[in-house]
Amino acid sequence: MKQKIQDILTEIVEQFKKNNLIPQDATVRVMIENTKDKKNGDYATNLAMLLAKPMKKKPQEIASLIVDSIPVTDEITKVEIAGPGFINFFVSKNYLASQVEAILNDEHLGVKTAAKPETVVIDYSSPNVAKEMAVHHIRSTVIGDAVVRILEFLGHKVIRANHIGDWGTQFGMLIAYLEKKENENASNLELSDLEAFYREAKKCYESDEEFAVRARGYVVKLQSGDEYCLKMWKKLVNITMVQNQEIYDRLNISLTEKDIMGESLYNPMLKPLVEDLVNKNLAVKDDGAMVVYLKNFADKDGNPRGVIVQKKDGGFLYTTTDIACTKYRCETLGANRIICFADSRQHEHLMMSWEIARLAGYVPDGVVLEHGAFGMMLGKDGKPFKTRDGGTVKLKDLLNEAETRAAELIAQRNNDLPEDLREQVIKTVA
Ligand code: ARG
Repeated sequence: MKQKIQDILTEIVEQFKKNNLIPQDATVRVMIENTKDKKNGDYATNLAMLLAKPMKKKPQEIASLIVDSIPVTDEITKVEIAGPGFINFFVSKNYLASQVEAILNDEHLGVKTAAKPETVVIDYSSPNVAKEMAVHHIRSTVIGDAVVRILEFLGHKVIRANHIGDWGTQFGMLIAYLEKKENENASNLELSDLEAFYREAKKCYESDEEFAVRARGYVVKLQSGDEYCLKMWKKLVNITMVQNQEIYDRLNISLTEKDIMGESLYNPMLKPLVEDLVNKNLAVKDDGAMVVYLKNFADKDGNPRGVIVQKKDGGFLYTTTDIACTKYRCETLGANRIICFADSRQHEHLMMSWEIARLAGYVPDGVVLEHGAFGMMLGKDGKPFKTRDGGTVKLKDLLNEAETRAAELIAQRNNDLPEDLREQVIKTVA
């Protein structure tokens, strides 16, 4: 409707020009506003005021000239001049009702699909293995899934990328601890509390030298593709993701096992990637490490910012993985657009990884890389939200508490709800 009114008014301005009421070279921007107060109709324009100068007439006089030129239709019931020369448009109720009806009857709710569908990679949720999802993961998970659904609805090809933290040196220690647990208690492995598992593994690593040596050995073995270590690693990933899937299902999140594209996927690409960065004169050796210097991230004295892509000991970093992952998403998945939903603390990291990927030519022109940033969940003290004893708050506990509180409220108010409906209301309120 707004567009229709816009077209009518633009046409009237053209007519005025033809009749030499407005100088030919005058540029007039027709603007339509949604009215705040429906007493003033549905839409309004200040066009008459804009034309006062070029037409050398009073706005009210111009407004009535305009109103006289507006064709009568079924859609607009009334056009009114208000105040110093505003023109208010009243849209017919029948027209609005018929539009709503048409939208409701349309399978696609009257929403046009994208003229040029894109391939969009949405990097979201992305929890870490052998840790439970924490409260802050709810944001990336829920915002990301909402965007996924919207873009799919608009007809884009959406690739869900659950970039889980499933690789790194901590896995040596975790494998050694899993092995210890299995040996002690072969039949039933109690892993419901992953946080405790991680904590205990760390304790062993720090206090038991023999354990630490074994753990370090497992890191090397895992990285070289040792079958036993891979099997143990896979177990840890599975246990974690089965638990996370329960949370996804509970929150009606569309992620499944098939959407896991964790850090480990990029591991085999890291060595050739750094070699490529060296060949392209981007990465240079500095004190044994491989570093890319970024001019666009220079400090206030103009010194470029150094980003390590390979450590002195040969190990790769979170940044190296994100560069490889950007390359893979562009080259292999054919992404036109990548949106990464992670909290604002990761902003600089993402910007630097993407800058390096662009400099290396991994990102074709026109590909959009976006950080869907959001803030942190803070406690009353303004610091990241923690449990009373300083630990991270598990998302599972938060959801449980929400349900408990909702159940209490409902018990106070609607005691006569049938059982199944009650359950449903509790979940919805929670
Ligand atoms: N695993 C990370 C975390 O829990 C989030 C990963 C975000 N995605 C990325 N491509 N870096 O904080």
